[in-house]
Amino acid sequence: MSQKIAESSLMERIVSLCKRRGFIFQSSEIYGGINGFWDYGPLGAELKRNVKEAWWREMTRLRDDVAGLDASIIMHPAIWRASGHVDTFSDPMIDCKTCKGRFRADQIDEIACPQKPSKSVVTCGGEKTQPRAFNLMFETNVGPVKDEASTAYLRPETAQAIFAQFKNVLETSRQKVPFGIAQIGKAFRNEVTPRNFTFRSREFEQMELEYFIPPDEAIEAIAGSVAKPTGPGHPGTPRPDWGWQLWHQYWVEERIAFYGRIGLPRESLVEYWQKPEELAHYARATVDLLFKFPFGTQELEGIAARSDFDLSQHARRSGKPMAVFDEALRNAWALLDDRTRERLAASYRNHRLAHYSRSGVAIGEATALAEADADNLAKGQYIPHVIEPSAGVDRLLLALICHAYAEEGVTDEKGKTETRILLRLHPRIAPIKVAVFPLLRNRPELVAKAVEIREMLRPHMTVAYDDSGAIGRRYRRQDEIGTPFCITADFSTLGENDPSDKDTVTLRERDSMHQQRIKISDLLPFILTRIN
Ligand code: GLY
Repeated sequence: MSQKIAESSLMERIVSLCKRRGFIFQSSEIYGGINGFWDYGPLGAELKRNVKEAWWREMTRLRDDVAGLDASIIMHPAIWRASGHVDTFSDPMIDCKTCKGRFRADQIDEIACPQKPSKSVVTCGGEKTQPRAFNLMFETNVGPVKDEASTAYLRPETAQAIFAQFKNVLETSRQKVPFGIAQIGKAFRNEVTPRNFTFRSREFEQMELEYFIPPDEAIEAIAGSVAKPTGPGHPGTPRPDWGWQLWHQYWVEERIAFYGRIGLPRESLVEYWQKPEELAHYARATVDLLFKFPFGTQELEGIAARSDFDLSQHARRSGKPMAVFDEALRNAWALLDDRTRERLAASYRNHRLAHYSRSGVAIGEATALAEADADNLAKGQYIPHVIEPSAGVDRLLLALICHAYAEEGVTDEKGKTETRILLRLHPRIAPIKVAVFPLLRNRPELVAKAVEIREMLRPHMTVAYDDSGAIGRRYRRQDEIGTPFCITADFSTLGENDPSDKDTVTLRERDSMHQQRIKISDLLPFILTRIN
């Protein structure tokens, strides 16, 4: 039976388990640690790989319409000027004159939002300074001279490399809009107050997809109308008449389904539509997928409709064209009646004008640029819009561990009750898939069988081998790290009890603790079907 644990103490137990069993360590611990940085130990490293591998597989390999990218962390600083990060990627910071603490102004004295509770932090109540903008990008210098000209930034998001390499990927991957570019990689933010274990760290990893779609005006010209969401849920297989709102809904639902496949069911998530005042400078709409952590309901992933903001910015600042040519659009445009043509051109011109005006372009130049863009649309050219599902790897790992953590009271055959700690991780992402035990370490025939099984399974999955202590204790050790299957080579395996049991083993399942006898020759297919 699962035991109910107070949420504050639950988080302490999870942090303790992560350290004790080698999932997560404080970075630089021997020197007292460094705030906002974490290291993944042997099991954490495996878990992280599995999560990233599941994302990569689903987002790229199982799809025809997404290509991968692995870009550098330090890029030309002009990228961050074009993206708006140099000017606007900041948090409002305030100091407390009494305790000298430094806080994010939006995180203190805040009335908790019912869907995003426990954002607020407790302060000493002393007098505070006025908020001032604190840019979150880490600065460094490239080359031997430290001056303004050599200043560069550790990327605060992986997304910008995707935009900067958009044309190269488009041309080399033979993709056509709609299509996406996916990337997994480190990002860095000099958070004012890193906190909640690995949830808000200064160095973290992102899994981001930028999915490029035509502007709605192009869709209408080609398909005759723009399909919009008609209700909640997955909108099904993409169609050529989908506008950006349907694509946005599609990716929200795809991402929720992904979480279900790695062990976070829909009911463990909250879908939160950002209010207009919460939207990032580039976003038209953003849905956050939140998870109910023990310290509050917090964001795992944001799915943003970024319009054509980023590619437009890079086109203008770099002078390199980012528009694509769409032959279907050019052909369809030629067949439109005059009124439709004028209406779509005017709508596109207005959107582009709004973009240039927001980006600080003087009205005369903005009008001319928007006019030229509308002319280009008529020739079949546009800058694609983008839907961006952006997930944090580290916070996802933490969510998976929190969701999987359980304590159960179990009674053994002698009537003794003890607490079993277990991680009910989905077998697909569990760091160790199977543990193999010889019942007794001093019986060479049992050891030989257990080693034979380990070697048979090892090329296909992570396998632990444990021959120390009572079997019950060995099970507990594996339960605590989320190993879904344990295999014991025992006397029946040798055919000592019943010759028909020869070359069978005990297979024990983590969550139910159910045990069954299974032929050694059936082990590999049995386990593979459950971990893939
Ligand atoms: N690319 C969006 C984010 O980093 O939040």
